[in-house]
Amino acid sequence: MTAPVLDVYLSEADAAHALRHDVRVGLSADPKWLPPRWLYDARGSELFERITTLPEYYPTRTERALLRQVVAQIAARAAVDTLVELGSGSSEKTRLLLDALTATGSLRRFVPLDVSESALRAAMTAVAREYPHLVVHGVVGDFTEHLELLPAGGSGRRLVAFLGGTIGNLVPDERAAFFATLHAALDPGELLLLGAGLITDPAIMIPAYDDAAGVTAEFNRNVLHVLNRELGADFDVTAFDHIALWDATQEWIEMRLRARRAMTVHVPAIGMRVQFAEGEQMRTEVSAKFRRAGLRAELLAAGFTDQLWWTDPDDRFALVLATVSLRKIAS
Ligand code: SAH
Ligand code: AVI
Repeated sequence: MTAPVLDVYLSEADAAHALRHDVRVGLSADPKWLPPRWLYDARGSELFERITTLPEYYPTRTERALLRQVVAQIAARAAVDTLVELGSGSSEKTRLLLDALTATGSLRRFVPLDVSESALRAAMTAVAREYPHLVVHGVVGDFTEHLELLPAGGSGRRLVAFLGGTIGNLVPDERAAFFATLHAALDPGELLLLGAGLITDPAIMIPAYDDAAGVTAEFNRNVLHVLNRELGADFDVTAFDHIALWDATQEWIEMRLRARRAMTVHVPAIGMRVQFAEGEQMRTEVSAKFRRAGLRAELLAAGFTDQLWWTDPDDRFALVLATVSLRKIAS
């Protein structure tokens, strides 16, 4: 087994700088908002893993079952040298890909990228132990900023997996920029495997983000713990309620935190005083759900062609395998 390699493109100082910027912008906006990236410190990553096991949270088990069913077809099309995984978290479902790509005999390297260093290190250690023939090369980075720094393909091709529906956590402008930057960072003929949530019945979608055991509520409130710890803020975390709603116009689930009472919050690290009115709501995450035609067109416009699509029997989740074309297709 080769010792895993870790590139850190997001040092503690970079993350601290980015957090200050995002909090300054988001908490002075009306309505207030925070980017979902800050949900994922070590505790946030653990809470997300618990979410994936909840009965209401269908995306993980649906994607896993679909992947299990089609992974041989993916591997047959993708005789790649390197599997890159963006927003890799625990890389739990990724084992299905690692197994199938290993069976083709071509896979040499696994490159997981995540902002959560604790989750990344744990996943790298486990994968390196379970797949001793692979070089495990982790990247602590932000998939909206560091794609051009991904380890090069060299003589082999790369398959980039972006699973879990995390693409939906980007708003449309960010998503378009992400697809364009990813296309530019890859070579023609390389591949993208995208997992995306599809629009389904709100009676199914909403409970997935508002579970009876309250794990998603804790995950949502975790962002306030992060601000308290990292910026010395004095949020009374217990004074915020978790909200999950389906925005039928934007076609996304939105997580919000609602202030139970009027309060002033101090954020000393950036010299900010923030007023919350009673009942005021702050957006902490969007989770877009897609229509097939719309996502197909977005991918094509960014230059991802030859799309193979698979969906589960209830049409709740899609896996798309697409090829990086020579140039973008004008939409
Ligand atoms: N891919 C896994 C984990 C999904 S949870 C799955 O399918 O279950 C989303 C993951 O993306 C988390 O591990 C989180 O730390 C990571 N993440 C969130 N925002 C990110 C960003 N901007 N850049 C890189 N990773 C990010
Ligand atoms: C990581 N991401 C795809 C999850 C989602 O479903 O949007 C994060 C999550 N938020 C609440 N529950 C899970």
